[in-house]
Amino acid sequence: MKAAVAISRSALFLGIFAALAAALIAWTWATTKTDIERSIREAEARQLLEIFPANTHNNSLIDDRFTLEANTPLLELRSERSGYTVRIDETVVGVILPATARDGYSGDIELLVGVTADGEIAGARVVSHKETPGLGDGIDTRKSPWILSFDGRSLRSPLQPEWSVKKDGGAFDQFTGATVTPRAVVAAIRRTLEYQALHRDRLFEVDPTHNTAVETGP
Ligand SMILES: Cc1cc2nc3c(=O)[nH]c(=O)nc-3n(C[C@H](O)[C@H](O)[C@H](O)COP(=O)(O)O)c2cc1C
Repeated sequence: MKAAVAISRSALFLGIFAALAAALIAWTWATTKTDIERSIREAEARQLLEIFPANTHNNSLIDDRFTLEANTPLLELRSERSGYTVRIDETVVGVILPATARDGYSGDIELLVGVTADGEIAGARVVSHKETPGLGDGIDTRKSPWILSFDGRSLRSPLQPEWSVKKDGGAFDQFTGATVTPRAVVAAIRRTLEYQALHRDRLFEVDPTHNTAVETGP
């Protein structure tokens, strides 16, 4: 009898301990998940503001988003991603489009390309890549300013034969010993401009439900 009571007591303690441990794990997971989501959102908002700085618009870019499907022609996305509308009051002054260069040296290179209403690049940024450090990773602004050379470019400047790296007769630098990566990025940015030109009316139409919140940060 005594043994049975002792066993049930131990089982009860064990049960309580397990429940407390599970609650602690759930709480840690929930707070960490919120922190991670917040830092991803902050990083994304920062990149959008690098492309269209705060003084170029008065909407909250991170909140003024639309969905682009996987495999969208020209953008070549692997999965659904967001595009962003850039507004001054009622006027759409730009868009930021996601694009994938599937022909990077080590796989996909994910990009964001900002385009103004008159078809000029406001800025382009690499969101993620797996290119070789010291060879292909100069596409990242933390490693080199190379991608800033697209600012102000458009389908008119340079004209098509020159939308390639210098080694292929084009206008854009390659890196020493690494042509594959910049070649892929140049082509993906040019395709994004083509997408913008093709869908210009839809991308730049005024949406009455638009978000006019003043940007206060992420
Ligand atoms: C281990 C290794 C890693 C490389 N990584 C890259 C890279 O990340 N990006 C790149 O453009 N080229 C990289 N290269 C060089 C390419 O293989 C290629 O030689 C170079 O891009 C020139 O290409 P092209 O002959 O078509 O002009 C790498 C080469 C080696 C051996």
